[in-house]
Amino acid sequence: MRLSVAAVAIGVVGAAALAAGTIFLSRAHAESQIERGKYLVTLASCNDCHTPGFFLGKPDMSKYLGGSDVAFEIPGLGAFAGRNITPDEETGIGNWTDEQIATAITTGKRPDGRQLAPIMPYHAFSYMTKEDVAAIIAFLHSIPAVKHEVVGPFKPGEKNTLFTFRVLPPGETVAQAPK
Ligand code: HEC
Repeated sequence: MRLSVAAVAIGVVGAAALAAGTIFLSRAHAESQIERGKYLVTLASCNDCHTPGFFLGKPDMSKYLGGSDVAFEIPGLGAFAGRNITPDEETGIGNWTDEQIATAITTGKRPDGRQLAPIMPYHAFSYMTKEDVAAIIAFLHSIPAVKHEVVGPFKPGEKNTLFTFRVLPPGETVAQAPK
């Protein structure tokens, strides 16, 4: 008899602790969605391909995620620079809905129907949980809008005005580093 009273008491205390824990966790979660997004954006290297100067060794953090100045040339497809993904309405994604941003990140489809070049790692990002995609979007909403029009994409044969990563055929001479 005593034992079962103790067991009930422990059960009640346990349930209370669990409830408190759940409340604590959900509150912590609500407060940290943007922080979680920042963490994911940092780990997923969005900064590398979407901040100007990064590939030239001097990322311009005053234009964080404001669009790259270095393109990737993909044989047969064209040359593509990481676009402005800040909330700027004219040159960024400020006019996109959360749904449109999520679709672009996880399927590569832009609101205008164009399929993004696969150098944007949407194939990998398609494995992200809905919560993580939502956290990334919340973080993207929270960063300063940067006015910066990314040029391109350039079609094969078109004149490209950006520094560019190019895939060369085997047998080419290694280029000298600029002094
Ligand atoms: C390896 C380079 C690379 C990485 C890493 C990368 N992106 Fe991209 N992203 C690109 C390129 C290049 C484009 C443009 C492709 C095109 O125009 O077809 C792009 C396009 C986009 C677009 C569409 C914007 C538009 O105006 O069309 C969004 C949104 C986007 N990226 C978000 C992200 C986010 C968020 C991350 C990190 C979770 C990320 N990208 C990581 C290279 C990258």
